[in-house]
Amino acid sequence: MKNTCTMLGLGLLLVACGGEKSEYDKYYESDYEADTTQITGPVPQAGGEQVQMDKGAKLISLSDCLACHRENEKLVGPAYVDVANKYESNDKNIDYLAGKIIEGGSGVWGEVPMTPHPNISQEDAREMARYILTLRDQ
Ligand code: HEC
Repeated sequence: MKNTCTMLGLGLLLVACGGEKSEYDKYYESDYEADTTQITGPVPQAGGEQVQMDKGAKLISLSDCLACHRENEKLVGPAYVDVANKYESNDKNIDYLAGKIIEGGSGVWGEVPMTPHPNISQEDAREMARYILTLRDQ
């Protein structure tokens, strides 16, 4: 009896996982791709279509940054384009901005403070900063 139940369970599992894709799955997958481009917009890169989304851009879109920042307009915080135009893209500035993303702070763009992000790793914060600095002169 116990065996029969296990077999039946396995059978169902196979049907659920191994069967052909349903119309819903297909729809969902094609939709998913369209969505990513919509959320992020085209990733600005000189002379080429960017098939994969920049890692920094993705991290930014997954965090709360967009509540206060837009790429091209000032919101609560400065536009990323303005940040990119202020700092040259080099290791020192990427480190500085990564530190600011993690620790927050105020006084550079105004009195409104940026909230700290202690849960973001140094590595991820650097990816974000590196991406932001690619937006220079757009
Ligand atoms: C609560 C609003 C808010 C959120 C959320 C926020 N920021 Fe900011 N951000 C600001 C403000 C305000 C400033 C300007 C701070 C200053 O004047 O020193 C700023 C400044 C910056 C700067 C420039 C720092 C400098 O010293 O020039 C960068 C880069 C930045 N934010 C990236 C991010 C990233 C990446 C995230 C998401 C992880 C994020 N911000 C989330 C409000 C925010």
